[in-house]
Amino acid sequence: MTEPLFDTAQFRAVCSQFPTGVTAVTAIDADGECAALTVNSFTSVSLEPAQVLFCIGTSASSYPLISRATRVAVHVLRQDQEEIARRFATSGVTAAEKLAGVSWSAGPGGVPVLPDTSATLLGTVGDRIHSGDHVIVLLDVDHVDLKPSPLSALAFYQGRFAAPVGPVAPTA
Ligand SMILES: Cc1cc2nc3c(=O)[nH]c(=O)nc-3n(C[C@H](O)[C@H](O)[C@H](O)COP(=O)(O)O)c2cc1C
Repeated sequence: MTEPLFDTAQFRAVCSQFPTGVTAVTAIDADGECAALTVNSFTSVSLEPAQVLFCIGTSASSYPLISRATRVAVHVLRQDQEEIARRFATSGVTAAEKLAGVSWSAGPGGVPVLPDTSATLLGTVGDRIHSGDHVIVLLDVDHVDLKPSPLSALAFYQGRFAAPVGPVAPTA
């Protein structure tokens, strides 16, 4: 591989020019232990079968649990849910502490489900692909929930929570 002519900060700055949505990911393992973290590397992958993915850093404290999770939930956050994104992105805080500050209930297999997000996808972990300092986690989705809202999605752009992405006005 050719040696890159940029450093990590430049690479991060370049990637941050791409605006994303923001999700809150929760997971549970066979012993009932949970993880909760904020994720913007979410994307849909396959329609049939229904699959999505997100990437997790191997140095995240949530990583060991995500790597043995039996069920995972991905919640698409709205513009008024920045507080959840900040809470779930706080390092050095346990999942129990993160979850203590939000409303949630146990979904299929006990995975924590946040009731009030615009879209929720629940599933089991399929393939995990190690790549660099992250793991690409593929989810086989078996439940979805849609709660349409006039509120826009929470966005992340240039390293900050950003002006939200609003619905496009219908064209005539
Ligand atoms: C907007 C935003 C998006 C993030 N996206 C990811 C991501 O896609 N993958 C990841 O591993 N960490 C991501 N993080 C960082 C994790 O949320 C953070 O490392 C983690 O929640 C800290 O807790 P942990 O170390 O207990 O996992 C993101 C943080 C923020 C604020």
